[in-house]
Amino acid sequence: MRKIAILTSGGDAPGMNAAIRAAAKYAMNLGITVYGIKRGYLGMLSDEIFLMDSFYVSGMIDRGGTKLLTARCLEFKDPKFRAIAAENLKRRGIEGVVVIGGDGSYRGADLLSKEHGIKVVGIPGTIDNDIIGTDYTIGFDTCLNTILDAISKIRDTATSHERTILVEVMGRHAGDLALYSCLAGGGDGLLIPEMDNPIEMLALQIKERRRAGKLHDIVLVAEGVGKVTEIEEQLKGKVNSEVRSVVLGHTQRGGCPSGFDRVLATKMGVKAIQVLEADEGGVMVGIEGNKIITHPISYAWEGQRYTTINEDFEIAKILSR
Ligand code: ADP
Ligand code: F6P
Repeated sequence: MRKIAILTSGGDAPGMNAAIRAAAKYAMNLGITVYGIKRGYLGMLSDEIFLMDSFYVSGMIDRGGTKLLTARCLEFKDPKFRAIAAENLKRRGIEGVVVIGGDGSYRGADLLSKEHGIKVVGIPGTIDNDIIGTDYTIGFDTCLNTILDAISKIRDTATSHERTILVEVMGRHAGDLALYSCLAGGGDGLLIPEMDNPIEMLALQIKERRRAGKLHDIVLVAEGVGKVTEIEEQLKGKVNSEVRSVVLGHTQRGGCPSGFDRVLATKMGVKAIQVLEADEGGVMVGIEGNKIITHPISYAWEGQRYTTINEDFEIAKILSR
């Protein structure tokens, strides 16, 4: 394959730039011409496609966000618009596209491939860690560390005022960020959409902690469980301490990518190019058991997710008492 393009799509994630850089540099080293597509599928459709050179990718490995910009493009769900986008690629002789994003972005890539013969490779880029076929997604580790930093600060004030503070973290429908933050941040309670933990049980746990002399409670709440302000209202009156809530919001999506995310992004970017160089496609890259692997791209919505969430939730429950 002589000409490829790279895009980022869906929510941005720290480490996306490291993946763009690795894919572009590795491809250039093989003599492949590399194009960048701005704003994901929106730019593919509106022809915001440009030739990338080595200067474009220098100085970006440690930058959060995505230099290529990202967008959500609903038109891409319509075959008529996908045909226009494919034409923009074909006019330039682009045969393969590296799509860095979530499973929604993979679905778009799969359709582009099936309808127009463009070879596609998906790289999992999302803070949510919610993609089937990979143990970790790019951005998850950095986001986790951002949350841990916030928890430490919140704990200082929670202790001083002897409060119960509910901390809402992102994850759309997935509880991974909340669960890992609870395990790594010494959380004192956990609510995630995958597991049942009634408010009454949480209240009991908090009362028990206070009886044991604990001065604060930090409860991790995944956004998929519901509005944290409503949970705050439900908890008030059921415990003796003052209850407050905080939404960490988009602070979680930004910032300098961690070493883990940069290495993961780099290895995945390289793997994506190795796939295209071999004139293959229709796959997603992942990491399983510390090995960079590929699955058919449809594995992201047809496969079975390997997860230890049940066991990890039980551990979190025991350690948060
Ligand atoms: P993510 O990739 O993070 O899951 P989204 O679900 O928002 O994020 O998808 C990102 C973009 O991928 C959408 O804005 C759209 O352009 C494209 N996309 C998502 N689902 C489909 C689909 N079923 N068919 C075609 N394109 C899709
Ligand atoms: O998928 C990443 C993510 O940050 C989710 O955790 C969150 O639910 C969503 O994107 C927020 O998207 P937006 O910034 O478009 O509101």
